[in-house]
Amino acid sequence: MARILVAYATKHHSTAEIAQAIADELRSRGHDADCLDVHDAHARGYDAVVLGSAVYMGRWRREARRFLSHESDILALTPFWVFSTGPVGEPKSAPDEDEKWLEPEAVIAQAEALNVREHVVFGGRMPRDPHGFIESSMARNTPEEFQDLRDWEQIRAWAAKIAAQL
Ligand SMILES: Cc1cc2nc3c(=O)[nH]c(=O)nc-3n(C[C@H](O)[C@H](O)[C@H](O)COP(=O)(O)O)c2cc1C
Repeated sequence: MARILVAYATKHHSTAEIAQAIADELRSRGHDADCLDVHDAHARGYDAVVLGSAVYMGRWRREARRFLSHESDILALTPFWVFSTGPVGEPKSAPDEDEKWLEPEAVIAQAEALNVREHVVFGGRMPRDPHGFIESSMARNTPEEFQDLRDWEQIRAWAAKIAAQL
């Protein structure tokens, strides 16, 4: 059994729910998982770390970037995995062009330099409580069927793969 930290950075909670599903799957496979807001998380003392952030305007949340930098010494010595929560709305016909909007390049380069085991992108959910004009118009203009693109089967399968490697 491994002791695993699942740390998340969120604005509208959809990333927190993904992190919770990952932690639940890890626990169901016999591991001990703590699921924490990255503000309250430290990598020290864990056998493995899963770090996830929502992506806004092509960037990870500041607190997740900070965690990656501040905890880099420990992460370099600890198996760790990364996910980004992002895409919502109608799937694009040429998703490759948008790669840097899905996974911020600099963050992924930093994680790779620390030997991240894997980094993945999960579909996100439009804010249910949009703040300001941009969020409100994005939410209003997204058809209901594309508001929540989180694929729980995909998320749990990813966590199961992590569980098997520990
Ligand atoms: C103003 C705004 C900007 C966004 N920018 C991006 C982006 O650059 N890339 C992306 O993949 N998703 C983007 N999204 C989608 C969010 O990442 C998605 O809604 C995610 O699930 C939010 O996570 P949270 O609920 O944990 O905050 C954006 C959403 C909003 C409302």
